[in-house]
Amino acid sequence: MAQRNILITGGAGFIGSHVVRLFVQQYPQYTIINLDALTYAGNLENLRDVEQAPNYRFAKVNILDIPALEEAFQTHEVTDIIHLAAESHVDRSIVSPLDFVYTNIIGTVNLLNAARQYWSADPGKHRFYHISTDEVFGSLGAEGFFTETTAYDPRSPYSASKASSDHFVRAYHETYGLNTVVSNCSNNYGPFHFPEKLIPLFINNIIEQKALPVYGDGLYTRDWLYVKDHARAIDTVFHQGKPGSTYNIGGFNEWKNIDLVKLLCKLMDEKLNRPAGTSEQLITYVKDRPGHDRRYAIDASKIKQELGWQPSVTFEEGLSETIDWYLANGHWLKQVTSGAYQHYYESMYQQR
Ligand code: NAD
Ligand code: TYD
Repeated sequence: MAQRNILITGGAGFIGSHVVRLFVQQYPQYTIINLDALTYAGNLENLRDVEQAPNYRFAKVNILDIPALEEAFQTHEVTDIIHLAAESHVDRSIVSPLDFVYTNIIGTVNLLNAARQYWSADPGKHRFYHISTDEVFGSLGAEGFFTETTAYDPRSPYSASKASSDHFVRAYHETYGLNTVVSNCSNNYGPFHFPEKLIPLFINNIIEQKALPVYGDGLYTRDWLYVKDHARAIDTVFHQGKPGSTYNIGGFNEWKNIDLVKLLCKLMDEKLNRPAGTSEQLITYVKDRPGHDRRYAIDASKIKQELGWQPSVTFEEGLSETIDWYLANGHWLKQVTSGAYQHYYESMYQQR
């Protein structure tokens, strides 16, 4: 296999850290450069087990800093990109939309420009892989699935910014011949997930016996995929995806929020040796998220048929493994929930 110097942006975040780990361990012949600004969501603790690997590098760079980006391309002789760096939390996008415009749209265009410039001799030879979300497709009713040809219909500042970045990536393929590929994935869960998102937040609150704030009527539906299966899908699309193509990635695993929360409560009671029903008493219905998308569901048949990828872990296995990981990594959880996070939590949930 050819030598490649792969720049992975956002590698210190939740999904990025799993992708970096997989590539560092699976492809010793590749050099993996983790480029990350280390915002509140970036944490090098997520990569302690691979940071000494001979094929791992780290560059603390903000994708809004064009000279630093260009320097990273030169220093590391970047041959390919897997772009995950983003502001990723819908609730934060409702409070501060411009942060999402800067990082998710302008940051992505900066990266496209740097790639285009650095690879100008043969733009088609180098892969530019942009990681996106199913949220760009908007909200489904009770029936149907998002396919690769579903029209974009973003409804939150987060999904609008991701949709915009997807369009720029496609445009750079058509206009400048960049060898791009985009994948749109459903909700991920698993180890190293920042506890502002539903599953890790509720695991943390159950441990601490704090209220579980369920938005609205709790009947919103998400399609959950284990993060390690997403990382495997990214590996597959990176190596085999057709230039200019997009792939939907999902777990065929829909859950209404309230059913998922009740399952989580049941599993946590068992694992913490608490009497059955203890954690369910923490469920508290709170004011809804504005513009809350009702249902997401991915049709992942294209990636299965074309590239042979499918999820390997059932939801029960993945959720159980995830809870075990959080229970065994109390130090990690304490570290990320202290300080600035505490302030965020108080102000975000006071508004509701
Ligand atoms: P995350 O918030 O956990 O991590 C984002 C990472 O990007 C962090 O390490 C952060 O430091 C870094 N970053 C943020 N702004 C930056 C900047 N300006 N310059 C450089 N680095 C910056 O996010 P995640 O959940 O791991 O999501 C990763 C990607 O996958 C995102 O593009 C997101 O839109 C997409 N995605 C996420 C999900 C999900 O369920 N979490 C699902 C589908 C797609
Ligand atoms: P989240 O993890 O924020 O992911 P996304 O909004 O990107 O799908 O939320 C998942 C679902 O859980 C979503 O319908 C909103 C809901 N939710 C709550 O009910 N309470 C919470 O405190 C959070 C963070 C989310």
